[in-house]
Amino acid sequence: MLKVINVVGARPNFMKVAPIVAAMKKRPTDFLPLVLHTGQHYDASMSDAFFTDLDLPEPDVYLGVGSGSHAVQTAAIMERFEPVVLKEQPDWVLVVGDVNSTIACALVCVKLGIKVAHVEAGLRSRDRTMPEEINRLLTDQIADLLFTPSVDADRNLLAEGIPPERISFVGNIMIDSLFRNLQRACESNIKSEMGLTDRQYAVLTLHRPSNVDNRETFGRILSALEAIASRLPIVFPVHPRTRKTIAQFGIDERIASATNLRLIEPLGYLDFLSLYSTARLVLTDSGGIQEETTALGIPCLTLRENTERPITVEMGTNIIVGTDTDKIVSEAAAILDGAGAKQTRQPPLWDGHTADRILEVLLKSH
Ligand code: UD1
Repeated sequence: MLKVINVVGARPNFMKVAPIVAAMKKRPTDFLPLVLHTGQHYDASMSDAFFTDLDLPEPDVYLGVGSGSHAVQTAAIMERFEPVVLKEQPDWVLVVGDVNSTIACALVCVKLGIKVAHVEAGLRSRDRTMPEEINRLLTDQIADLLFTPSVDADRNLLAEGIPPERISFVGNIMIDSLFRNLQRACESNIKSEMGLTDRQYAVLTLHRPSNVDNRETFGRILSALEAIASRLPIVFPVHPRTRKTIAQFGIDERIASATNLRLIEPLGYLDFLSLYSTARLVLTDSGGIQEETTALGIPCLTLRENTERPITVEMGTNIIVGTDTDKIVSEAAAILDGAGAKQTRQPPLWDGHTADRILEVLLKSH
């Protein structure tokens, strides 16, 4: 039996780990899964809500690191994680995505000779000013097993000199959670509570430091949002980082006066899925949402200059629009006028069975 520590830390980790833990629990003779939460995210709306919505078991271990500078947060995770790994002596540690918890735990494992697997390996934005890009590059260099979501990720890893035997193309784990929960999300009341009609509203998420920590960039995006909101309501669940900078930059009043821009608290997994799955348009700087909109065929405008998920552009609904006001407004108008619809296809192995493939590889690799 394989004892596996499954690491979660921040909001985008929960939906990646939930299907893996569920699949392991179905095979108790093969797997003993533990869930470890670093506490990188700790607000009820950023963390607890996801455990409930995704049926993720309560963490067996909670490190409670909280927020801090990158160095402080990464170091705190490493310091608190090391004694747990030493005590538990797992056969595998599984890390997901590209957050600080991912690299911190991978680094602890490799120094202790504990095997570590990285789920969602190989994605590259080629923008090293993104903290996540550094986390991705380093985690992939040191992990023993690299589970990739798309073939471009395999190519990136091979080009970085990673031996092919460490790489397994298993598909996109987020889509396992998406398909598992689509039906349950129909029970959410979020749209009726907000008086929204399917396909007659847009959804916005914004939290990248490069967008929300920079006054000019945030201002350009806001100008675009004001223009788009004259055509349809934009629902904006606000990330805590963004909430802080809105106050710091003193743009609260400007935002409040844009009546069709409807700010709400961050949503749980099911409410958010219910919301974006019937949106006319999604605007985002998130990585995962680019993938989820592609899987559901919802038009997505990505408010960044690059993406580490190019397959969502090549095969899916994603359009990289950057942060130029006119570009955002014109691409949104093309979609709203019906001219911007892309021919889309489902990327290979985004089929809801990625967790099973990961388990098979773990068993074979032991
Ligand atoms: C982190 C990840 C990012 C991911 C995002 C999703 C890294 C480097 N970044 O960014 O890749 O896309 O999570 O949300 O790991 N805060 C709260 N409550 C919380 C968590 C955070 O109020 O539960 C506030 C704190 O003031 C904190 C700020 O949000 O300083 C930013 O949190 P942090 O975890 O540092 O980074 P994120 O921007 O959330």
